[in-house]
Amino acid sequence: MAPDRPRIIAHRGSSGTAPENTMAAFRLAASEGAFGIELDVHLTADGIAAVCHDGHLLRTTGVDGRIGQMDWDDLSRLDAGSWKGPQYAGERIPRLSEVLAFCRRTGLWVNIELKGEPEPTESLVDAVIRDVQDARMTGAVLLSSFHHGCLLAADDRPDGLPVGLLSETLDEGLWELLEERAERGRGLLSAVHPHHAALSRPDAVRLHDMGYRINLWTVNEPGDAARYAEWGADALITDHPARLLAFLESRRAGNGRP
Ligand code: G3P
Ligand code: MG
Repeated sequence: MAPDRPRIIAHRGSSGTAPENTMAAFRLAASEGAFGIELDVHLTADGIAAVCHDGHLLRTTGVDGRIGQMDWDDLSRLDAGSWKGPQYAGERIPRLSEVLAFCRRTGLWVNIELKGEPEPTESLVDAVIRDVQDARMTGAVLLSSFHHGCLLAADDRPDGLPVGLLSETLDEGLWELLEERAERGRGLLSAVHPHHAALSRPDAVRLHDMGYRINLWTVNEPGDAARYAEWGADALITDHPARLLAFLESRRAGNGRP
């Protein structure tokens, strides 16, 4: 049965509170009752899928270096928590396999966003699929990316995972692709992930009519969440899961509907 309100997905974990893409942010998402987490992955020089948003490490670790040029051993020693607050000092960049093991234990669904500089490589896709298989998480994962070529290629693989297309806008090229795939069979292309401000109510109807799930980012304001819930959005990716869950629950209690 379809849920009666959007699923709440913690964007980079509960990143409004805890340092993004760290185990602290993923643990918080689980304790807040999020349905799942969104995270970003890059490949290290020695082929490990590492969970971090930026390819450059300066913003979250203070180190002037790139993930793609470092080995895991060195990357894993960096402090990715202090920038957010002294109480998070010592939080590390996790590897994808560690996060997947945690999600398997706690029942969190995972949206893995493929990054890479300038775009995801086949080696990154290989490493991610291997980690997901090893963690026995193939039924609880969706791959997304702004780089649609790597997703559509993954969709053709026998070991492919469900994929969702990330987009800042819903432009004509994207609609053509979605329509073409809807007509010939969507395969593993199951979702569209538009920036929330790009979506209109007619867009939502059109996407659902074509069979796609609608997972919106980054929805932090309760008023926005209420509107997208009314439009039938399937998931809201947010920095503040507790805030949105409390709001949607209070509306449900008040109205009977989100
Ligand atoms: O997946 C939604 C969102 O994470 C896309 O943008 O830059 O936060 O990875 P970004
Ligand atoms: Mg992301």
